[in-house]
Amino acid sequence: MKGRFDGATALITGGAGGIGTGVALRLGREGAHVAVADLTVSQAEVVAARVRQEGGRASAHALDVTQAEDVQRVLGEVECLAGTVTLAVTCAGIDSQFAFLDLPPEEWQRTLAVNLQGTFLVMQGVARRLKAKGAPGHIVAVASAAAKRPNPTQAHYGASKAGVVNLVRSAGVALARDGIVVNAVCPGVVDTAMTQAIHMERSLLTHLSVEESLDRMIQAIPIGRIETVDDVAHVVAFLLSEEANYMVGQAVNVCGGLAFD
Ligand SMILES: NC(=O)c1ccc[n+]([C@@H]2O[C@H](COP(=O)([O-])OP(=O)(O)OC[C@H]3O[C@@H](n4cnc5c(N)ncnc54)[C@H](O)[C@@H]3O)[C@@H](O)[C@H]2O)c1
Repeated sequence: MKGRFDGATALITGGAGGIGTGVALRLGREGAHVAVADLTVSQAEVVAARVRQEGGRASAHALDVTQAEDVQRVLGEVECLAGTVTLAVTCAGIDSQFAFLDLPPEEWQRTLAVNLQGTFLVMQGVARRLKAKGAPGHIVAVASAAAKRPNPTQAHYGASKAGVVNLVRSAGVALARDGIVVNAVCPGVVDTAMTQAIHMERSLLTHLSVEESLDRMIQAIPIGRIETVDDVAHVVAFLLSEEANYMVGQAVNVCGGLAFD
């Protein structure tokens, strides 16, 4: 069966994480060469191997998205191996929990560096190469419903993701006439290691157990269940496809009803 992304090359940053893995498997099944890039390259190798086991094509790359030279190196590596990156998904992200008055400036900077500047560096690097070749492409940033809601114990994270939403608007408009389609998804509470870590840290602040903390969050989701990585991957794949070509700089909520703007 012909896949939507046959012959295309996709870069997934944070590809070793929960959402990154879901997206990698999805794009591999739909015919793309998947370049799985992550700070943890051993885990990126595991994800790439899973894509290959399913009959897809994949490679693993060590990448720190906060380092501009590292982003350039990986884009060059992937281009030599599998052709120009025409599909990019920026999943690399970090989060932590701090009461607002205790949030250290270093943690603010670390979070903004990975979540916002890292997204910018990858987006700009991919777009420059596409523009130089006169090639069209699709870029999807993984933002968050946290971009659109108050986040009393994660002000830094919410601000970084709100920044991503605005970055996507600017990049989407800047690149629209070059045929480079830039959009974002805003997931809610996804069943990944990050969510487990959030509720472990929150339990220390709230004195609830990890299970109680996560359960309270799930009860607040209108759809009444936690989000799967496939819930996110379906929408990411759509935004990477030609079916989304008339969408410019949008931040699509995929969050079970947690956010509406
Ligand atoms: N889990 C959720 O509920 C949720 C909700 C909304 C948005 N998100 C966002 O989705 C994205 C993926 O989240 P996840 O739940 O899969 O988390 P995860 O922790 O499973 O994966 C994140 C990945 O990013 C990688 N990473 C961290 N810093 C990096 C860096 N400097 N360079 C390269 N890679 C780096 C990590 O090694 C990890 O593999 C993140 O941007 C996150 O903010 C997650």
